[in-house]
Amino acid sequence: MRSGRLRTILSIASVCAIIFMVHSCTDATIPGSNELDYELKEAIRVKAPNDSLEFYILPDGKDLSQIPQDPKNPLSDVKVELGKQLFYDTGIAVDAEKASGIGTYSCATCHIPEAGFRPGNFQGVADGGIGFGVNGELRLRNQEYSEADLDVQSARPLSLLNVAFVKNTFWNGQFGANDANEGTEHLWEGDTHVNELGFAAIESQNIEGVVTHRMNMDREMAIEFGYKEMFDQSFPEIAEENRYTQFTLSLALSAYIRTIMSNEAPFQKWLKGDHDAISYEEKKGALLFFSKANCADCHYNQHLGSNEFHALGVLDMDQRPSFDAFPDDKRNLGRGGFTLNPDDNYKFKVPQIYNMKDTPFYFHGASVQDLHELIDYKNDAQSENPRVDQSLISSKFKPLDLTAEEKHHLIKFLEYSLQDPNLERYAPEVVGSGQCFPNADNQSLIDLGCF
Ligand code: HEC
Ligand code: HEC
Repeated sequence: MRSGRLRTILSIASVCAIIFMVHSCTDATIPGSNELDYELKEAIRVKAPNDSLEFYILPDGKDLSQIPQDPKNPLSDVKVELGKQLFYDTGIAVDAEKASGIGTYSCATCHIPEAGFRPGNFQGVADGGIGFGVNGELRLRNQEYSEADLDVQSARPLSLLNVAFVKNTFWNGQFGANDANEGTEHLWEGDTHVNELGFAAIESQNIEGVVTHRMNMDREMAIEFGYKEMFDQSFPEIAEENRYTQFTLSLALSAYIRTIMSNEAPFQKWLKGDHDAISYEEKKGALLFFSKANCADCHYNQHLGSNEFHALGVLDMDQRPSFDAFPDDKRNLGRGGFTLNPDDNYKFKVPQIYNMKDTPFYFHGASVQDLHELIDYKNDAQSENPRVDQSLISSKFKPLDLTAEEKHHLIKFLEYSLQDPNLERYAPEVVGSGQCFPNADNQSLIDLGCF
């Protein structure tokens, strides 16, 4: 007992010594925090499309009037709440390929809050998958399903964080009638036929997405799961016979996902004036992001992504062990797979980069699994994909010559400043059907503790 106390005293003493050393070293070598804050603010203003620091402040997900929305699908509190339950509700998984898949998956099977609204794996498997693990990393194939039967895509799922700021959805931007898709009307066929309805990108994609992901809704289900009143309040302008459908289901889902914001990330607090919210190293990293490392040349919109398409030459999904991915997959061509213009080949949308730490699978083919490796890739700017000759790499993607210390600072900025620690706030307590969520196959019931 006495030696335990001695150890405590010694360790307190050594912590004090460390604090003293760090403190004196801080005083000697670090320029005034105010100076660095000032420098960072200037660098951010230069990169902000409207020259203001406030540009990067994300709205609170509850402050609906501040969230970009589709005039054809205006947000309301009740519609968002309806979408919030439906997004996780395994009860609406009624269009499964096989009987054993019915009622076992949801949108959140592949977009899990705790995993940064991606799955905890390089691919998401909804219908035809079994198991959850901790964050979706242990989802295996239901043996009754062949690989081709699975609801799985040959690209890493995009995060839904800050998706309200995405102008054209998917890695290739194929959804949405406006922005980058103006002039592509002649290409709207198959999945993208939906662009003709004139909805914004998120709404357009989800009208199609509920079909792809094998979910549905009808009046009986709305009544059985207790959603009818919320549908009535959300869509009073839609005639009753059309009010409880796959279409209105998709609109409610779109309303909810627009509210998913990483506004509790420390960088957000710093932007709002709390200069102690991020550390000295993170500020140095942020400064690099907005200046010398050129990151904000591409990642410059509110969500730190943009609607530009660039070829970085990373590997495709079929070039690693994966489900249902093939070399001649149209997804491998990126923007070119949609526009059919060879000049667009291998160009992918610049994604948002909040909460990267939640799931270690980066880029559209999940070719990189560690942020150090990711920064090395950005620093070297060399194609790793034999399909993408170095001459096809984006002219904005250039070697950076960063020092080890600079790389370290950039990683700190990504890992801590851009990490919203509380994404669970977006998940519902219960869902209408009362089923287990986000998955409800037998293995997931065990993994999720649903008994
Ligand atoms: C089987 C896994 C899976 C399921 C289930 C799933 N998604 Fe996704 N989601 C993906 C993948 C993969 C992508 C990226 C596809 C691409 O770009 O080629 C994506 C992309 C998106 C995007 C585009 C984001 C952007 O930045 O462009 C939205 C919006 C979206 N999903 C919403 C939903 C909704 C709503 C549901 C439920 C109806 C859903 N997802 C169900 C895998 C899934
Ligand atoms: C030339 C434009 C460009 C520049 C410059 C750039 N990026 Fe990116 N970034 C992209 C594109 C495009 C992707 C997606 C590439 C793909 O998957 O094919 C991406 C992906 C990422 C990802 C992974 C996101 C995910 O969901 O997988 C992170 C993190 C990232 N960039 C951070 C940075 C940082 C940090 C810098 C500066 C060192 C930087 N980027 C510079 C265009 C750029």
